[in-house]
Amino acid sequence: MTKTAAITGSASGIGKAAAQRLLDAGWTVYGLDRAEQTALGDRFAAVRCDVSDAASVTAAFAGIDRPLNALICCAGVLRTGAMEDMAIEDFDLVLNINLRGTFLCAQKALPLLRAGATPENPSRAILLSSLAALRPKVMSGAYAASKAAVTQLTRVMAAEWAPSGVLVNALAPGTVDTPMVRAISDPTASKGYRPSGISPVGRIAQPDDVVDVMMFLLSDGARYIAGTTIPVDGGTGAAFIPVGSNM
Ligand SMILES: NC(=O)c1ccc[n+]([C@@H]2O[C@H](COP(=O)([O-])OP(=O)(O)OC[C@H]3O[C@@H](n4cnc5c(N)ncnc54)[C@H](O)[C@@H]3O)[C@@H](O)[C@H]2O)c1
Repeated sequence: MTKTAAITGSASGIGKAAAQRLLDAGWTVYGLDRAEQTALGDRFAAVRCDVSDAASVTAAFAGIDRPLNALICCAGVLRTGAMEDMAIEDFDLVLNINLRGTFLCAQKALPLLRAGATPENPSRAILLSSLAALRPKVMSGAYAASKAAVTQLTRVMAAEWAPSGVLVNALAPGTVDTPMVRAISDPTASKGYRPSGISPVGRIAQPDDVVDVMMFLLSDGARYIAGTTIPVDGGTGAAFIPVGSNM
């Protein structure tokens, strides 16, 4: 039987690239998104789901009638602005989707992930944290808090779930070229928020730079990795580069 993954946020950006890569590698993919999705072929099932809504998440996972080898939680939103006057609705939205939505999906996927695990090949859950969890930036306090919480959830779920064959890890990308980032490229529209931009490697990431690390976490080579958040940031978070330095 082919391997099966559930991917949230599969309509766009990193989640869509992950879905395409797994399909190319022969996996069956359930793509959960609140947005309409492009048809990606016979082994792709598009499932309309709002990850922040418990009933919607319960229904989505109840509709998956086979064990899961992987869960990849990419659904997320960014809302920017100073903490002083950030709209409470924006704060709630960010926490509800990025944190609550990740928790709900992981919890509902767990029985299917346990069913898909074998002693030789544990199932994998990969959660999308962010460099913002490790090095937050001004004008994105709610987002940074949501991603720091995802990183802590990753650690606790990993310790709780590894004994039953489910390895939980997170990725912490820096700036990735996706619609999320393109939407706030104008500092006026983004209420003063600035993405980290070009990394010391000399460019911003493409979704496939992140998906490559996911593929490692899904591989046999990652069978002893649990509870970690791996930066995928081209060195952006490694050292502070003062304004005006020759970099
Ligand atoms: N792009 C970056 O620079 C960057 C950096 C670090 C982390 N991340 C994280 O990576 C993940 C993917 O981001 P992306 O850049 O691909 O963004 P994106 O906007 O391209 O894709 C996000 C997807 O999530 C879906 N989504 C949003 N709210 C949802 C909900 N309530 N229920 C179901 N689906 C929902 C959207 O419809 C969209 O398809 C996010 O968690 C994001 O925070 C992105």
